[in-house]
Amino acid sequence: MIREKSSGIIRPEGILPLRSYFNAPLQLKERLVSYAGVLSRYGRLLEIPDYTIPITLLEGNTPLIPMPRLANELGGGFELYVKFEGMNPTGSFKDRGMTVAISEAVGRRAKAVICASTGNTAASAAAYAARAGLRAIVIIPQGKVAAGKLAGAIAYGAEVIQIEGSFDDALNLVVEVSKKHPIALVNSLNPYRLEGQKTAAFEICDLLGSAPDWLCLPVGNAGNITSYWMGFRQYHRLHTTGLPQILGVQAAGSAPLVLGHPVEHPETVATAIRIGKPARAEEALAAAEESRGRIIAVSDEEILAAQRMLAANGVWVEPASAAGIAGLARELQARRIDLRGRKVVAVCTGHGMKDPDIIVRAMTNPKVLPNRYDAIEKEIAGKE
Ligand code: F0G
Repeated sequence: MIREKSSGIIRPEGILPLRSYFNAPLQLKERLVSYAGVLSRYGRLLEIPDYTIPITLLEGNTPLIPMPRLANELGGGFELYVKFEGMNPTGSFKDRGMTVAISEAVGRRAKAVICASTGNTAASAAAYAARAGLRAIVIIPQGKVAAGKLAGAIAYGAEVIQIEGSFDDALNLVVEVSKKHPIALVNSLNPYRLEGQKTAAFEICDLLGSAPDWLCLPVGNAGNITSYWMGFRQYHRLHTTGLPQILGVQAAGSAPLVLGHPVEHPETVATAIRIGKPARAEEALAAAEESRGRIIAVSDEEILAAQRMLAANGVWVEPASAAGIAGLARELQARRIDLRGRKVVAVCTGHGMKDPDIIVRAMTNPKVLPNRYDAIEKEIAGKE
């Protein structure tokens, strides 16, 4: 952080006030806008082997968007920010961990990677493997992966296999394959995925100057909540940035961490978190407890309502990504949380364009009118 002499304003390194930015010499401007990805910015804080060879798509550095109107709609009296992870290169937060996992795999001369996925990990693994020239194999639950994710995995050239089973079944299979074959596992069981995902916590602290009071986020396989908690603790040890309370949110039909036991047949409209047996269950429960937060479940209706509220404020996220806001709304309504004067960050993990069908299925087709000015004017003026 830099304190400006004239105004006393503290701002993150690399960001200039608009006027100084416009007036800055070109050379300085280029240095300031250059950004080289999470390994470049935070690699020194990550536990990664020396043999790692950086493979990046300039992931990270995602916007932390102030949401004052949404905060008011939820009751007001607190500061709300959305960490919009849908702005990563493949449209989800997975890219932060994937750059590190693939870089490590390339460093030890892996030729192929494999993962199980509800979709986003698959697209991310496929993109970074393509970047590195590796073979990518992804195993997904048949018919339960949103169109934008499946299309991504295919576009990036992954070998996509659907199984007649769930994400949890797919994860068991890829673990077995990776034990028997020289194929690197890039699910969040891979510790380098967690190392990379910690960088989101670092960015939030760098932008706010400290950790928020509360962090809310969706929980599926539980790698992300585990990483955020690791990241916030590490930054606090280094820079005394404080620790947030964490509100992890699962979908009611897929809520093993709330129920206290695995769910055999998980179901939810938020297919990204349709997971019955999270790989990082213990770490997620520890993060909730140690942070004096909790993990709760919300219904599909609450998730879709939160998705609509976010979109009505200009931020379109996929259903799972709205779970954090849905959980926050539920806790506020039930008066289980007091946010007066507090700072809250909701992590929106994936872009709305990942799952267009959710919107398209629910919408009525846009009206078709003749190609005439009077028809258009009548339609528009009639609604004034
Ligand atoms: N949000 C989105 C959009 C996701 O894709 C996922 C997980 C999560 C939240 C939950 O994160 O698993 O770290 O607790 N998606 C994985 C996948 C499972 O295969 O893409 P988590």
